[in-house]
Formats: sequence, structure tokens, C-alpha cells
Amino acid sequence: MAAGRMPETAGSGGPRAGRVFDARVAHPARVYDYWLGGKDNFEADRIAGEATIAAYPAIRASARANRAFLARSVRYLAAQQGIRQFLDIGTGLPTANNTHEVAQAVAPECRIVYVDNDPLVLSHARALLTSSPEGVTAYLDADLRDTYEILERAAGILDFAQPVAIMLLAILHYIPDLDAARRIVARLTGAVAPGSYLAISHAASDISPEEMAEMIRRMNEHLAEGNHVGRPRHVVAQFFDGLDLVEPGVVKVTEWHPASAVEAEGPTSLWGGVARKP
Ligand SMILES: C[S@@+](CC[C@H](N)C(=O)[O-])C[C@H]1O[C@@H](n2cnc3c(N)ncnc32)[C@H](O)[C@@H]1O
Repeated sequence: MAAGRMPETAGSGGPRAGRVFDARVAHPARVYDYWLGGKDNFEADRIAGEATIAAYPAIRASARANRAFLARSVRYLAAQQGIRQFLDIGTGLPTANNTHEVAQAVAPECRIVYVDNDPLVLSHARALLTSSPEGVTAYLDADLRDTYEILERAAGILDFAQPVAIMLLAILHYIPDLDAARRIVARLTGAVAPGSYLAISHAASDISPEEMAEMIRRMNEHLAEGNHVGRPRHVVAQFFDGLDLVEPGVVKVTEWHPASAVEAEGPTSLWGGVARKP
């Protein structure tokens, strides 16, 4: 592998480090599923879920607000910007309003590539592969840090000469090294055509800062990799450098194109934004 193409996992146990299925250790996808009221979680995830809820009781509502941001941003991209290809990295366990369902409800020909590194998400992938007959959904078992591998494999399904929406929702906060996270985002946005979009939601360190710091500390106590990190709004905004932010910019996810004033004022611990590659 050429020097410029080293995966971010190099030197940290190698690609796929920490991916062995172990129900005794909490994992982000399953704790998130617990917060959302799902059933695809184990005792360790429920213990982590309860410990984090005790530190930051609004985390459940915040997880739901993140799913609502996913639905609004995908609908905006498909309906208002004509995007027909989505690369959704950090998919999570199937739940309501998965990316392909929202996108294909607008345009059945949409093509979606899902990527996640959790073996349990892989085992549920069939539920994500229920494409409309006109479109395509595919699932890649891969790590965000192996960005070039993701791009190479996704190119078998997506046409990178045409615009692609890159969805990084509630995943970059599992890349604690900020420079590594920036390199990953730059590689992804560098690979897509002009007119492509980047959507990000990210745990905040400057919304309810004390509760969030304790929530993240408890989360890391329970996670196998212990790699959860919050970031302030201005740092999240820097992930969009070089791109044109869609109004209203980087805001609380509840405030991004809210469906109602009630939604805009709901609890959240995440910054979110969407931007276009010029
Ligand atoms: C909190 S969930 C977010 C799910 C969905 N994107 C959403 O916003 O509703 C984070 C997801 O990212 C996945 N994830 C975390 N680190 C990852 C990595 N390095 N590579 C691939 N997936 C990762 C987890 O397995 C989990 O499914």
C-alpha cells in the first residue's frame, strides 16, 4: 500500500481491530439502539445505556432528534437537490426511517451504500437491503478509518462521476484523533464529484457541557474501544471547510430545517450541518 493510502487503523491493532463480536462489552450501535427503544442490544449495552441516561437524561430524546435530522437531511437532498446516490457510513442497526427508505420514497431509483463495522449491524443488514426495484441498496462491512477501501468498494455500486451524498451521522465522535477525523472527511469529500454533499451530526462538548462530559466519560467506561469524544461547534464546522454550507449552517440538529417550532426547541446534544461540494 502506498504511503499516502495508509488506513487510520494502521499502528492501532490493524484494520478491523476491536471488531470481534462480544456481547459482554457495550458497542455504540447497540447502546444507541437501546436509547432509541430498540430490542437489538445486550445486557452490557443496557447497563451502558442506563449509566449514560443517568448522567444525561435527555440522551434518549437526543438520539431520536438525530434520527429526525437524518430523515430531514436525506429528504432535503433527494427532493430539493436531486441527489440520487448516498454513502451512509456508520449506519447503525435498522430502525425507522433508514436512509434508503427516506430517499427511495422521494425517488425510487436512489442508490444507497451502507457501511458499518459492527458485526451485529452486519447480521441485520438484510433489513437494510430492501431496495425499491428501481434502486439499489448495498451493505459494506468496513471501518470508517479504512476510507480508501470503502471508496473502492462503493465505486462498484455508486457512480463517483455523479454527485453523492456522504452521510456521517453520529460517527465522527468515535474517531478521537481530530487530525485523523479531518483526514477521513477530506478523503471522502475529495473522492466525490462537484455537486456532492456532506452531512454530519456530531456529539457536542459545548451543549449541556457538564452533563455531556459525564455522559461521555461513562460511555467510554463501558465501550470496548472507549473512543467517544464530544467536540465544540466551531470544530465540527471545520469539517465542512472548502464546502458551501447549506443554511442555517452548523446548528443543533433540532434546528436544522425543523418541521415545527416544537421540534426546533427539543433537546439535543448534537451539532449538525449539510454542505455542498462546489
Ligand atoms: C450512534 S450510531 C449512529 C447511527 C446512524 N448513523 C444515525 O445517525 O442514526 C454510530 C454507528 O457508527 C458505527 N461506527 C462507529 N465507529 C465506526 C467505524 N470506525 N467504522 C464504521 N462504523 C463505525 C457504529 O457501529 C454505529 O452503528
